[in-house]
Amino acid sequence: MGLLEDKVVVITGAGNGIGRAEALLFASEGAAVVVNDVGGARDGQGAGADDPAAAVVRQILDAGGKAVASTASVTTREGAEAIVAKAVEAFGRVDVLVNNAGILRDKSLMKMDDAMWQDVIDVHLRGTFLCSQAFARQVVQQGGGGRIVCTTSVSGMLGNFGQANYAAAKAGVYGLMRTMSIELQKHRITVNAIAPIAKTRMTEDLPMFQGVATMSPEHIAPAVLFLASDLVGDRTGHVLAAAGSRMYAFKVVETAGKFKDDDAGVWTAQEIAEHWDAILKA
Ligand SMILES: NC(=O)c1ccc[n+]([C@@H]2O[C@H](COP(=O)([O-])OP(=O)(O)OC[C@H]3O[C@@H](n4cnc5c(N)ncnc54)[C@H](O)[C@@H]3O)[C@@H](O)[C@H]2O)c1
Repeated sequence: MGLLEDKVVVITGAGNGIGRAEALLFASEGAAVVVNDVGGARDGQGAGADDPAAAVVRQILDAGGKAVASTASVTTREGAEAIVAKAVEAFGRVDVLVNNAGILRDKSLMKMDDAMWQDVIDVHLRGTFLCSQAFARQVVQQGGGGRIVCTTSVSGMLGNFGQANYAAAKAGVYGLMRTMSIELQKHRITVNAIAPIAKTRMTEDLPMFQGVATMSPEHIAPAVLFLASDLVGDRTGHVLAAAGSRMYAFKVVETAGKFKDDDAGVWTAQEIAEHWDAILKA
């Protein structure tokens, strides 16, 4: 028995890179997979020019698995609803959603234009919102029970030079994931995130990947399989991070802080400066 036997899974942006590795692994674990991808370049230009989703579906079918392609965009409500509808139409239900689709349009803050900002926010953040909403509505109609895996990034958790748009989108994905994990608990839907680092067309020109063969999408896919399968249990709201052979996690830390017990508890700016270290102490 595979870990996803009889499960219907939607993976967005699964025509390339990490999403593709997830689709192939999930299908080999028994899942029926909706392989979604608009195609196009890594900056989102030329969408529809190629059809990477169909190629991944062919590969899954050739290996004896179950898959259908979807070329809808995650950025529109119609697109997101069509992606989920495809799962229901082809396989009768949906159990797992992996929000993976992504583009990059790097520029420093001073040089970034409105389109660079908006296009990146639309794919990562709005796409995750729209697909998760369409998925959750379908799951609730089915009687509840499911898994959402979102894709955030080191950039979103820590920030990165030249990625104001991308970091904001991925930090937004983190906040959205946390809120969905709380709201969807009553429908027995776990919501977690992966923060991957892998050599794909999105990252292959970064200096850290030159000559590196040990940080592949295939290192990431099992972590997402864990979050998508019954193995995750009732764990929800986590950010699992994977980079090559390293498996780790991101956590937001709230410090214990310091109380001021005179002057009705009102701090002066001067006092905050004086007690900075104590306020930041874990
Ligand atoms: N590669 C890394 O090191 C890394 C690091 C952190 C986060 N991520 C995230 O992992 C995810 C996958 O990235 P990747 O490295 O595999 O990149 P990739 O470019 O190989 O794959 C992304 C896929 O998303 C598709 N896509 C883009 N816009 C879409 C839309 N509107 N609707 C549907 N599909 C769309 C693209 O066509 C592409 O096939 C992204 O969310 C990315 O931000 C990757």
